[in-house]
Amino acid sequence: MSVDLSKLPQILEGHPKDPQSLIGVLQDIQKEYRFLPDEALEETARALKVPLSKVYSVSTFYNAFSLTPRGDTVIRICVGTTCHIRGARQVQQRLENLLKIKPGQTTEDGKFSLETVACVGACAMAPVVAVNDEFHGGVNVNSAKRLIRRSKKA
Ligand code: FES
Repeated sequence: MSVDLSKLPQILEGHPKDPQSLIGVLQDIQKEYRFLPDEALEETARALKVPLSKVYSVSTFYNAFSLTPRGDTVIRICVGTTCHIRGARQVQQRLENLLKIKPGQTTEDGKFSLETVACVGACAMAPVVAVNDEFHGGVNVNSAKRLIRRSKKA
């Protein structure tokens, strides 16, 4: 897939040309493209004088970064212990069935991506599902369907 990288020079110009800028640059690329295209990572490595292997290791270490395109709406299911005890597994299965994808995948129309995350620190609201950056607590199999329906309309 070819990606229009015309915004990349602007992103790189917004940061000092220094290895310390790596995470900030990757955050901006992720924000702009919703993933980290290979060509952008190569250019970043060159511009910041960081080995490409280091750029990839940082890109794969942080959950916030994705090396594959994400959907317009990213649904994250917390699978931490409290959420697990309170039914996150059933919610996950429901979301997988509704979207016909597994965690780490994106729907064919590019609208939704499904991911699992470790405890997001909102255990009192368990089970927790995040739709993009919006957290929803006490999610069950029925409200999971409503979350998808609402996101489709947005
Ligand atoms: S385990 Fe899900 S928010 Fe803590």
